[in-house]
Order: sequence, then structure tokens, then C-alpha cells
Amino acid sequence: MMTSAQIFNEEQRTRWNGVDGEYWVREQDRMDRTLAPVLGPLLEFAAPLAGSTVLDVGCGCGATTVELAKAVGTAGRVIGLDISEPMLALAKERLAAAPQASFLAGDAADIELDGVGAESMVSRFGVMFFGDPVAAFTNLRKGMLPGGRVRFACWRPIAENPWLQVPLHAVYEHVPRLPKPGPEEPGPFAFADPDRVTRILTAAGFTAPVFTRLDVQLDISAGGGLEAAVEQATHMGPAKKALTDQPEQIRLAARDSIRGALESYVNGCNVLLAGAVWLVAAERKG
Ligand SMILES: C[S@@+](CC[C@H](N)C(=O)[O-])C[C@H]1O[C@@H](n2cnc3c(N)ncnc32)[C@H](O)[C@@H]1O
Repeated sequence: MMTSAQIFNEEQRTRWNGVDGEYWVREQDRMDRTLAPVLGPLLEFAAPLAGSTVLDVGCGCGATTVELAKAVGTAGRVIGLDISEPMLALAKERLAAAPQASFLAGDAADIELDGVGAESMVSRFGVMFFGDPVAAFTNLRKGMLPGGRVRFACWRPIAENPWLQVPLHAVYEHVPRLPKPGPEEPGPFAFADPDRVTRILTAAGFTAPVFTRLDVQLDISAGGGLEAAVEQATHMGPAKKALTDQPEQIRLAARDSIRGALESYVNGCNVLLAGAVWLVAAERKG
């Protein structure tokens, strides 16, 4: 019988190789523009050294890998690791001309990392979807040098993230509320609680992490105005989950509610809502 961690992992593998991965590939440009306000601060926080080796965990379509490749230069190495074949295919395409970039396809929890020897591990929103995060970080540790630096971005609680919460509440005018995620369930907010993240990292052989708040304004329309924002809000995060398998009539009504809820956030061609991020820093012990 499968454990709950294995079931979570299989669900995530299926989603990132299916509906979610396809959405990120199709909307890569829009997603990159929406999440751009996190990229600069994360890179500054991670401060990858020229000539060093960096592991980009859950690299997805490669937005962070592109910037890390520039930072380490051709004397360094950046290795993008992801469970999603379609997202990795796009990342490889984007980095085809960067000899310092390479990619590993597989699950962070069991992919072979011995000998990678990374000085640092960086991730933008790629570490919250592990079915068994202690197993994943224990394995990722094997790819790092002693004292290696972990630097990642993860979301703070949904109540601090109106860019996802406002559309979700609009959808709730039409569909039942989603069940509250279990304490060990993977998902965008699975690393929102610093105590849980501390437990995971220390159990996996890292120092107790330090948490720094990053508050950003995210343009969920990526410059496309209200209709683009409605489209994006309907297709991502918990709002999308709440609309899964709903009939067209409900989806249309939910879109109208999302449009109404987002109207007051329109600013020219942008639709700006607050996002709340933890920047997390730890080091490999030993
Ligand atoms: C929210 S996306 C972030 C993508 C990218 N870091 C970015 O900022 O654009 C999360 C990524 O984590 C990856 N992921 C989820 N579970 C994983 C696992 N067990 N091992 C490796 N990657 C995983 C997904 O395939 C996806 O690319």
C-alpha cells in the first residue's frame, strides 16, 4: 500500500507533467512577467558566485536558471532539476546557448546527485510540492558541498497573498470551499509556516533556517489588463483548483465574479495585487 507521502508525490508528478506543466509552458512569458518582482530579490539574496556550481531546484521553465547561468558565468555550472518533462524541455530550449547550464529530470527525493558538488542550492517556488520534504531535502543535501548554501523563495500564508486569495474568494461565490490542506500536504502554501520549514530542514541535515520577509506587488495580468488578469486568475492556484470539473455555466459565473473582484486593482495595463514571500536561508551541516 502507498504511504500518504507517495500518494502526494504521484499526484504532484502527474500535475506537473500534465495540466499544470502544460499551463506553465503555454503561459511561460506571462508567468515570468508576473513573478518577475521575486526574481531580482531572490538572486540578490542567493548571491551566486561567478565560477560556482548552483543547483536550481524545481527550475520549471528556466526563468531562474537563465539568471543563475549569467551569474555563475561560463566558468561555473548551473544544474536545473525538475520533475516536469514539458517544463524542462522549454528550459533546455531557453538555455541551449549556455554551456554552463545542464538539466536533470526527476524527483528531488530520489534523483542521483552524488558528485554534483554544488556550493549553493536556489529555488523560486520549487520546493513546496514535495510529497516527503524531509526525504527530498535529505537527497538534495547529497548534491551539495559541506557548508553549501540553501536559498529559496516560498509563499507566506494565503491570507497574506491577495493575488491568489482575492480570485479564490470570488470563486467561492459559486462553488463549495476547498477542504483545508492537511499539515503535510504539498502545495503553494506548504512552506508558509516557519516552524514546519525549520523542522524539515534541520531533519534533513541543514542549519536552522533564517526567514526574511519579501513583500511584492504582482501584476497578475502581466501587462495585459483586466481580461488577461481574469484569464490568469482562473487558471492558476487555488481558484483553478476550486473550479476543477465545474460545468461551463459555473465557470462563466465565477469569471464574472473574479472580474468584479479584480476591477479595483486595475492600474493602467496592470492589475496589481500584493504577494507575500519568505526568503529562506540555511546551510548544509557537515
Ligand atoms: C511553481 S513551479 C516553479 C517553477 C520555477 N522555479 C519558476 O519560478 O518559474 C514549481 C516547480 O516545482 C517542480 N516540482 C514539483 N515537485 C517536484 C519534485 N518532487 N522534484 C523536482 N521538481 C518538482 C514542478 O515541476 C515545477 O516546475
